[in-house]
Order: sequence, then structure tokens, then C-alpha cells
Amino acid sequence: LNYNVKRERSYILQVLFNGLRRLEYRGYDSAGIAIDSPSRPQCSSDSDLTSSPPLVFRQEGNIESLVKSVYQEVGETELNLEECFSTHAGIAHTRWATHGEPAQRNSHPQTSGPANEFMVVHNGVITNYEVLKATLLRHGFIFESETDTEVIPKLAKFVYDKATEAADAGGQVVTFSQVVLEVMRHLEGAYALIFKSVHYPNELIACKRGSPLLLGVKELTENKDNGSAFEENKFLSKDGKPKELFLSSDANAVVEHTKKVLVIEDGEVVHLKDGGVSILKYENDMGELGASLSRTSSVRRALSVLEMEVEQINKGHYEHYMQKEIHEQPESLTTTMRGRLIRRGSSKSKSVLLGGLKDHLKTIRRSRRIVFIGCGTSYNAALAARPILEELSGVPVTMEIASDLLDREGPIYREDTAVFVSQSGETADTLLALQYALDNGALCVGITNTVGSAIARNTHCGVHINAGAEIGVASTKAYTSQIVVMAMLALAIGGDTISNQARREAIVDGLYDLPNKVREVLELDQEMKDLANLLIAEQSLLVFGRGYNYATALEGALKVKEVALMHSEGILAGEMKHGPLALVDENLPIVVIATHDACFSKQQSVIQQLHARRGRLIVMCSKGDAASVCPGESCRAIEVPQVVDCLQPVINVVPLQLLAYHLTVLRGFNVDQPRNLAKSVTTQ
Ligand code: G6P
Repeated sequence: LNYNVKRERSYILQVLFNGLRRLEYRGYDSAGIAIDSPSRPQCSSDSDLTSSPPLVFRQEGNIESLVKSVYQEVGETELNLEECFSTHAGIAHTRWATHGEPAQRNSHPQTSGPANEFMVVHNGVITNYEVLKATLLRHGFIFESETDTEVIPKLAKFVYDKATEAADAGGQVVTFSQVVLEVMRHLEGAYALIFKSVHYPNELIACKRGSPLLLGVKELTENKDNGSAFEENKFLSKDGKPKELFLSSDANAVVEHTKKVLVIEDGEVVHLKDGGVSILKYENDMGELGASLSRTSSVRRALSVLEMEVEQINKGHYEHYMQKEIHEQPESLTTTMRGRLIRRGSSKSKSVLLGGLKDHLKTIRRSRRIVFIGCGTSYNAALAARPILEELSGVPVTMEIASDLLDREGPIYREDTAVFVSQSGETADTLLALQYALDNGALCVGITNTVGSAIARNTHCGVHINAGAEIGVASTKAYTSQIVVMAMLALAIGGDTISNQARREAIVDGLYDLPNKVREVLELDQEMKDLANLLIAEQSLLVFGRGYNYATALEGALKVKEVALMHSEGILAGEMKHGPLALVDENLPIVVIATHDACFSKQQSVIQQLHARRGRLIVMCSKGDAASVCPGESCRAIEVPQVVDCLQPVINVVPLQLLAYHLTVLRGFNVDQPRNLAKSVTTQ
């Protein structure tokens, strides 16, 4: 942050805390912060920072507990004194535990030792940390955490000490970038890192490989004292104007300050110094320390503009993000389809236009297989779209959970089209599967909600779902938008064959009308709250579906499981007789999805078989069907509007989303931040 424009010390804390609050959905079991010491006497120059230790706070629990402990420790009044730096660089982190339990010692920033000479925040996993740790232990370093991250600041100190010894003996003084470049050379795994050091006051270094990282640039207009800090500015912008610079793994933390961003690429090293920024590209395997800089190149590229509004990441009048996101589905679906549906004059011209795919449709049609790859909700969305894709394209469609594909090293061929579905576009398993498919020569298509994400950048082509920022950890609106995009994908691949014309028209019409139908099904909100009240104390809930709605059963059960913390299982109804039937008694609640489609009569017989075993039934059926579908008084019906079969999963999932939401609130759990989960899992 730039201090040529008058700033107060508390400002940096507010910016960092608010940034963490915006990122909390990505991890929330512990948090930490490192800022230059506000307790030192009025400084005469920035160089005083070297002699004044930074303040490092780390705290188990959520961000508010960190905020509380920081203010308790340093006192707000003191922080409000006007600062005298020309710039101030601080770092902060919210954690989702991978290596080491949530505890203060495992929180970030991880440091090089008690003097905090090097401090690091990290997103990702260092896979070779054990080897590095063993080496550092041999050199006398003492470790206090169980994290993989701790090796990084310690390695930085090791490199710095060695280089300083060499400098004392007449060698060159090592720069912060050189230290970090040398550290990077030894790291394996995935990371986005930000380094802060007492040896390099007012500087931050960030670098990445595999995990997301973004630089936000805010020009400051209120320039009271355009001092010397910018005179030697050889950075991104040569205009000499003061700036605030933000580094984050997520645009959400940046958008309230600026929309001008640079997506940092693998191997890039971002150096913030005196309010300016320079970027170097790391070339692999740089040999001896000191050779580093000669093997790097300077990076210059234009800033891009974030297409999101701050309002998108606020709750508005809703109590929770999940609630807001469920209710905004009519709008998010409209945005997903905007400009992509074509319905001109004659019915023959009903079709879709997916700009990001148009040059690749021929190749996709000629594929040996279409392979859908994703995790969690994104996988379920692909499963919901599978039947229509098979039907319209005539190409065999197979499903892969990303981690399972990697575990098996399953076959992917050059003639395959691999479709990567991911809301965040950053899920580590999906990204690794993408690399695997690229290595095997498949055509790779990305379906993501995040422009500029790793999956969007690394696939050959793709479609953005444009559902808007999704903050609730449990995915809702992204799920329905993903299904719609994949239905449009099926239409695009299917082309304009005469044999499919009627079917295509029905789907395009159904897509046009879908937001209205979703609005209609949202009216079940109170009914789902009543149902949640009935189920509040249950241990378990089964959801039976098949055909288009097998995915709905899986996704409905996933929602209940992940937010309401109630055991729930989605079951393929065709498999009922082969095991699950043994669970059925008069106590276990079972939702059966039996809306009108080709599987309707089979589902009716499932209902009869469950009823015959005194199953406690909740039947989801098409409007007007309750009386005929529900056997007996004890059966409860959820009547939903009927749409064309392949879009019915979009409608049917909504009552289950509402049920999961209300169950969670009634059971007193955190809807937006379910226990142990994170929105985007950027570690394997
Ligand atoms: C996490 C989230 C899920 C999400 C899954 C895949 O587990 O909690 O809600 O479905 O990751 O995420 P992606 O961003 O790849 O869709």
C-alpha cells in the first residue's frame, strides 16, 4: 500500500482483514497476518524498519478471532496514529488445513524462526517438504509446526545467510528476488506464495506454480506528495503515480479496491517495491545461486479488467450466501444463456451459439469418446447432462471423477474430447487430470465459472458458465448453470440434423422458459422449511433417482451431507433391489424423485416397493401428480413444475437445495462455511 497518499496504520489492517473475510470461504480453520511494527517510535525513514521487528499474529479459528486478538494486543488507538512509511507491505492468510491440524503453530505466516526474518503465506502443497526439512534440520533449523510450508521461510533464510556470507567476502549483495528464485528452484508441488522479510522492508515477493495468484493495481488519485519513491520507477507502469497493489489467490479479495488485474502465470515472480511492481519469469533449472537472474526474463503485459461487481460478493438482503445463491438462480441462468440461444423466425433456426467452441465442434463430433472430468458438484452436473449429450451427439460419453482417473491412470486417447467441469477452475485434482489429458493428446474443453482460471487458460477451448461469483461453499447456482451450459453443448455438438429438429426445438424452448420455471419452484421455500422441521433430528436421509435425475439424487444428498451435516446418500433407483432396500423401515426418510420422463413408470414401481416395506416416503413429482403418485396418507409430496426431461434436473435440485439450507439453519450449523470443507480445493 502506498503512503504518499495519507494513510493510517490501521488502514493496512482493515484492508488485510477485509481481504481475508472475502477469502474466508476458501478456508476458515485458522488465520494470520504480518505487518510492519506499528509500535516502533515515529520513524525517520523506511530503513528504520530493518531494526524494528514486524508484528506477526496467528490464531486458530476464524478471521474474527484473529481480528479480536490483533486489536487486543496492539490497541486500536495506537494503530490509528498516522503512519510515516512511504509504503507499507503486509501479508495475511486464512487456512484450510492440509499438513498439520488447525492450530496456532500451523497457521500462516510461517516464519524462518523467532526473529521472523522471512515470513511466508502459502496456498498449495509442497510435495518434497520432507527432504527439504531433513536438510534444514541438519543445518540446525528448528521446526515448530507440522506444515509443509515451514520449509519455505527457513529455506529463504538459509539462502539469504549463505549469500550474505558470500557478499561479506566480496560477493554481490543478494536481492529479495534472487533469494526467492533460489527457493523456488528447490520446491516441488503446487504453490502460490507471498514472502515478506525484515531484510527487505517495504517489499513483497510473490510467485506461483500450479495455485492461483492475481495482482490488483489501484491508481491513487489523491496524490498529495508524489515523492521520490516513484522517481526510479522501472515497474509495470512508468507513470509515476502512486498505487495500491494487491496480491491474492482470488479476485473476490481485490474487486472492492480495483478491477484492474493481472493474472500471474506459473513460474512468474512478482516483486512489489516502493509502490511499484516488476515481474520476472523463472526459467526452469537455473543452476547455481547467482545464475538465477541471468536465466529469467522480464514480463510485461496489459492489465485485464475484472467483470464482476462488489455487490455480487455481498449478501444483499439475504441472511446467508447459500440462501442468496439459491434464490438468484433465475437471474444466474438468464446470464448463463444470454446471447447464446438463437430462436429466429422459423423453428428450423432454433439453436445455440457457443463462441468459445465454434472452431472445435467438428473435432468434437468426430471424437472417439467424450470424457467428462470433475469433482464434487461439478461432477454431478456433468452426470446430469450426460444422457442428453449421448442422445444428441451420438458419441459415447464417459464420466471420470478427477482423482479416480489419476489414481487409475485411466486411458485417455488422442481421439478423445475431455471436458473439464469446475466452478472455480482451480481444483487441484481437476487441474492435474487436465495436465494428464493434455499429455495424452486429447482435445481439452473447459467449463468454468472463473474467467482467467487455470482450467480456462490451459484448455484448448471452452465455455464460461457466467453464473456470477459463488461464495457459499456448497455449490448451488453454479450447478444449475453448469447443467444448462452442458445442455447447450449437447445442442451445439448435435448440430442441425433434421432427425433431431423437434427435440432441439423443445430444448431451446425449454431453456428460454427455464428461469421462469425456477422462479416457480422457488415458491416451495416455506414447504421445504416445514419439511426440514420434520427431519431436523434425523440421522440419515436417502434420495432415490434414475435417468436424468440420478445426478439430482447424488447432488441433493451431497447438499444435505455437506451443509446440514446429516448422513445422506444418493442412490440409483435401479440398484435399490441390490442392497439399499435392506435399509428401508418406517423410520428412515426417503426422497424418491419421480417427475415425468421415460423412467416415470419404473420410479412408480420403486415407490410401490418401498411402500410395501413401510418406507417413510417423500415423493418429488410433477405438478398435479401428487394424488396418483403418492401411496398412502403418510407419503409426503413435493410437486414441481414440469419442463423438458433433460432440463428437469435443474428444477428438481432446487427443493433439495432449499431443504439442505433450512435443515442446516434449523440444526444450528454454519451454512456458508461447513465444517472441514473449502470452496475450492487447490491441494491434492
Ligand atoms: C469443493 C467444493 C465443492 C465443489 C468441488 C469442486 O469440494 O466444496 O462444492 O463442487 O470442490 O470444485 P470446482 O470448483 O472444481 O467445481
